[in-house]
Amino acid sequence: MLNQRTIEIIKSTVPVLEKHGETITTRFYQLMFGNHPELLNVFNHANQKQGRQQKALAGTVYAAAQYIDNLEAILPVVKQIAHKHRSLGIKAEHYPIVGKYLLLAIKDVLGDAATDEIINAWAEAYGVIADAFISVEAEMYDEAEKQIGGWDGFRNFVVDRKVTESDVITSFYLKPEDKKALAHFQPGQYISIKLEIAGEKFTHIRQYSLSDSPGKDYYRISVKREAGTVNPDGMVSNYLHDGVKEGDILKVSAPAGDFVLDTGKTTPVVLLSGGVGLTPMLSMLKTVVEVQPQRKVTFIHAAANGNVHALREEVETLTSLENVNSFFFYDSPTEDDRKNNTFDVEGYVTQEWLVRNIPKFEADFYFCGPTPFMKSINSSLKNLGVTEDRINFEFFGPKGSLEDSVKKEPVSI
Ligand SMILES: Cc1cc2nc3c(=O)[nH]c(=O)nc-3n(C[C@H](O)[C@H](O)[C@H](O)COP(=O)(O)OP(=O)(O)OC[C@H]3O[C@@H](n4cnc5c(N)ncnc54)[C@H](O)[C@@H]3O)c2cc1C
Ligand code: HEM
Repeated sequence: MLNQRTIEIIKSTVPVLEKHGETITTRFYQLMFGNHPELLNVFNHANQKQGRQQKALAGTVYAAAQYIDNLEAILPVVKQIAHKHRSLGIKAEHYPIVGKYLLLAIKDVLGDAATDEIINAWAEAYGVIADAFISVEAEMYDEAEKQIGGWDGFRNFVVDRKVTESDVITSFYLKPEDKKALAHFQPGQYISIKLEIAGEKFTHIRQYSLSDSPGKDYYRISVKREAGTVNPDGMVSNYLHDGVKEGDILKVSAPAGDFVLDTGKTTPVVLLSGGVGLTPMLSMLKTVVEVQPQRKVTFIHAAANGNVHALREEVETLTSLENVNSFFFYDSPTEDDRKNNTFDVEGYVTQEWLVRNIPKFEADFYFCGPTPFMKSINSSLKNLGVTEDRINFEFFGPKGSLEDSVKKEPVSI
């Protein structure tokens, strides 16, 4: 328990940290990786280069500091990050390393302004924040391992099947090499894959949402090839597409994540996806059909055109069911798409379209896709009066903000 003076120091220094936040965390990573290069095996190098992880960490440290005397208030945020940490294999022994270099970075950047009193207060506060993460994560490790078919860390899976789903998306059907039971998952959850790539100094870990419904003897992921234009090609997605074949072994951690369909509810559900963001939504759609056949579900998917539209047949086979409705949006349909009538709407998913076509605004909404797509959907739903408790979304990267308004921004998939 922190004393009142420490709490006051922490709260009064938050604005200073906010001002220097990204400089501090950038310095922190330089110091930490310089002294612990082995941690480059778990951190995503592309996120580091783009500063995405720096922003996520800085934001969380301020939030935690602001609520240092009431960490319960940010428990949902802690849990969401803890899912990611557990999926990556972050352990209690890693926290003192992060703490040490974070404090050194604060000292470095703030110079004389970082008095001993301030540094000691932050050391104490970091300890409290770290303990909150460690205890939530300990429970998650325990659950992941002790569930039926569960395991600790990374388990070997065989690529049983590799299926091309579109010009850019390929599915991988993964079965445990030990042929033992496979842990259940909730629709919307993801796994982490750890790759050792020949010629690469470090391992590379990435998350992939499970794209089929639970209860099968395999996990399926559907991966988009991230082709770089000015930047390098995506490391893991291209390796999975080009370097991994049927029969190969992949290292996989147990399913994680709190973006999950609430199957305890019977309210209508609207699933919206852009591009490869369809993976968790398809798992949710198939789950509703299998376990809640009375529940109304609307599946809205936006893609550039038929060439990059993955897994459409799986959705189409379900649309004859009375409780299922689907709409495909193409923003750049091909001649063939037009000729064969393969889409419902040309253009983006707009607020006007939602008003006209989704009359049930008491529905629960789940969405995933590129950030501009998610910002647009989020602002449309809010403008239409959908309350936050019915809005759920997933970022395919470090969680960011959807808040700045983009009502008129074109949505590119
Ligand atoms: C919860 C979750 C679920 C996900 N589910 C899916 C899914 O179902 N399907 C799916 O396909 N993906 C999914 N992802 C995304 C996935 O984890 C990877 O981020 C994605 O495959 C790209 O990884 P990569 O290694 O190919 O690219 P990376 O090497 O990580 O590169 C990512 C991007 O950064 C750019 N880049 C690389 N190096 C640099 C540099 N030096 N400077 C600037 N830019 C650079 C690349 O061009 C690329 O666009 C999910 C992510 C999360 C967090
Ligand atoms: C209290 C301390 C910590 C805080 C506040 C924190 C915060 C965060 C946040 C906000 C994210 C992004 C989550 C998301 O995807 O939305 C994250 C991811 C991550 N964290 Fe932590 N973290 C802490 C401790 C640690 C420790 C001790 C390690 C291990 C050394 C670690 C390693 C990672 C890694 C590897 C990722 C994923 C990064 C990526 O893929 O880019 N974190 N953390």
